[in-house]
Amino acid sequence: MNATALPATPPDGLAPVYAQYPFEVASAEGVWLMGAGGERVLDLYGGHAVAALGYGHRGWTEALIAQARACQFQTNALPMPIRARAARRLLDFSGLDLASVFLVSTGAEANENALRLALRMTSRTHVAAVEGAFHGRTAAASAVTWGSEAWYGFPRKPFEVSFMPRGDLAAVEAQVTERTAAVIVEPVQGLAGAVDLGAEYLAALRRRCGQVGALLIFDEVQCGFGRIGAPFAATLYGVVPDMITTAKALGNGFPVAALLTSAKVSATLKVGLLGTTYGGGPMACATVLAALEAIESEGLLENIRRVSAYIRKTCVVGPVTATQGEGFLLGLRTSRPAKQVQAQLLQRGILAGGASDPNVVRLLPPFILKEEHVDLLRDALSGL
Ligand SMILES: Cc1ncc(COP(=O)(O)O)c(C=O)c1O
Repeated sequence: MNATALPATPPDGLAPVYAQYPFEVASAEGVWLMGAGGERVLDLYGGHAVAALGYGHRGWTEALIAQARACQFQTNALPMPIRARAARRLLDFSGLDLASVFLVSTGAEANENALRLALRMTSRTHVAAVEGAFHGRTAAASAVTWGSEAWYGFPRKPFEVSFMPRGDLAAVEAQVTERTAAVIVEPVQGLAGAVDLGAEYLAALRRRCGQVGALLIFDEVQCGFGRIGAPFAATLYGVVPDMITTAKALGNGFPVAALLTSAKVSATLKVGLLGTTYGGGPMACATVLAALEAIESEGLLENIRRVSAYIRKTCVVGPVTATQGEGFLLGLRTSRPAKQVQAQLLQRGILAGGASDPNVVRLLPPFILKEEHVDLLRDALSGL
């Protein structure tokens, strides 16, 4: 493919806030993106971890079309069986002792609501977050995002925030206190470069939150809903938080996010406390149900675990010195700048992501990726 086919700045009319990859997508199928001239790119980035089922998934597409025909939208104030079905199946899929689901549209919105509930429930003013974390771009979500000072923009944060170094148990003791409303954590950090915080650290957060009466929020917007080869990190690590937020893979591209709450949190909910226009719309719910159906009936969690192990085994070649992360939230640690490796991969027809760590190439492939695709990555990396 021609890596210089498009200008580096966005076309006229679009806010110039995203650097543009030099590849214009015309269509997509399975794990492949196609350009207008027929050139193909293997997608190991999945549109920021969103395209969980790949492209053109028949069941998901048909579910979306059928729901659009039946009734494309109704407010949460009008009961629709598909909404209740989506919530119930999501709770069942988690395998966790959680009580209710509030459906919204974006990851940041889910986090915003989770933080609001925690602050309200505890009447406290401090939130502890973890260095390296990304939680979104709304006022509260970006307040707990590491390094957001560079772009925050609001005159002040809506509550007091402190950041704990990753894995530092002493910092957990010191910073999570009787003043703390919530701890918010990505169990496997995404933007940071696929950094797995691990069962021991997450269990320590759970313990400390219990001791001081703070609420534990797992931001599984990126790592959840199957991406790490288990329904949620909470399921994988056996640590049950008070709230889980999830999005991205959840709708396979339809904007949908969810806030899952424990019975304790759920018991504080009442009419009028939370709200949204688009959240829980029937098309969003149809996509969640279709994604769940595909994950379960196509054995995609097992596929993720197997193919992830294959990536780890075969792709420490060329500039890659190690792998990190879990399942299909993987980081390839590179001996030279990751941006350079990413650009060279794209020239060879492979799209990978970056991370805030300049030496990590991030892989967030569709859950349907197979070993034969990994072989293409290995061969490309070997030649760099
Ligand atoms: C862990 C995490 N939390 C929250 C968000 C924000 O989600 P959204 O962009 O849907 O608001 C993201 C997005 O990348 C994320 O990775």
